[in-house]
Amino acid sequence: MRLKHSDVTPEPVYLNRRAFMVGAAALVVAGGASAAAAPPEPGPLKATPNPTFRVEDPPTKYESATTYNNFYEFGTDKGDPSRRGHTLRPRPWSVVVDGLVAKPQRLDIDEVLKAAPLEERIYALRCVEAWSMIIPWIGYPLSVVLKRAEPTRKAKYVEFTTLKDPEQFPAQKPGLFGLGGGLDWPYTEGLRLDEAMHPLTLLTLGMYGKVLPNQNGAPVRVVIPWKYGFKSAKSIVRIRLTEEEPKTAWNKAAPQEYGFYSNVNPTVDHPRWSQATERRIGEFRRRKTLMFNGYADQVASLYTGMDLKTLY
Ligand code: MTE
Repeated sequence: MRLKHSDVTPEPVYLNRRAFMVGAAALVVAGGASAAAAPPEPGPLKATPNPTFRVEDPPTKYESATTYNNFYEFGTDKGDPSRRGHTLRPRPWSVVVDGLVAKPQRLDIDEVLKAAPLEERIYALRCVEAWSMIIPWIGYPLSVVLKRAEPTRKAKYVEFTTLKDPEQFPAQKPGLFGLGGGLDWPYTEGLRLDEAMHPLTLLTLGMYGKVLPNQNGAPVRVVIPWKYGFKSAKSIVRIRLTEEEPKTAWNKAAPQEYGFYSNVNPTVDHPRWSQATERRIGEFRRRKTLMFNGYADQVASLYTGMDLKTLY
């Protein structure tokens, strides 16, 4: 079975055949020549390894981490982001931090790069589709940027918004929603404020000693290693502090399958498949999935008193 988020897209949207066919035809015409060009090779990015945040397992091959991707703005196929990623222009870029904050910010990407010392952290990434990778990310705690903006006492949640620009993300073109799995653009994700302030939550600017490749969410994304990968929004343009739980792209598309918390939990199956085990990219045997993706000692206390079975 092929596990694709698009399999769960609500029927009225996904089965809009006419729009899908028109869209697919347009893509063949429009994307023909440029689709072959690979994104430019990212330059080096210096960072200091942080020994507190590492896993024993060897990192996934760079080639796999940059060619087997989920980035539905480029299409639903794992190879689409690396094939089509060149259309994203990660510079110039700025990130707005606003909402319930005393000091709203608009940070140029160069300011984001300099806001704190860059660390290399080796994290496990567990996709809700039951595959996983080990990735050496480069970044610093998201809390650095949040604290700068000074969240007010009302702020309870953080919403992340990915760039919306159909010129840069082909699957966002109107009428092409079959290509983007039926997601509503822009892609949004969210965390509770204490989750966002947790030291593990990484504002991420690079990987494998390089600037973040386009297909992995250039120029800036978040990585939340104890949650399913879809929480880790790519190519972020806005970080908004809110009082209400933010709406999230996958929850809107399939609320019965993707919840707000989405903590990795081997005891709560996806409605259509087991989450007890996972396929580590590059390995043949399946591995057991760990509670909170192996980060339980650091994050379980965030959920004291909450029913983890219904947190999906
Ligand atoms: N962010 C955006 N904007 N669009 C997406 O489709 N996919 C998510 C997440 N962030 C996605 C996204 C999913 S399902 C996963 S598993 C990870 O990105 C994959 O990150 P990677 O390709 O760098 O491994």
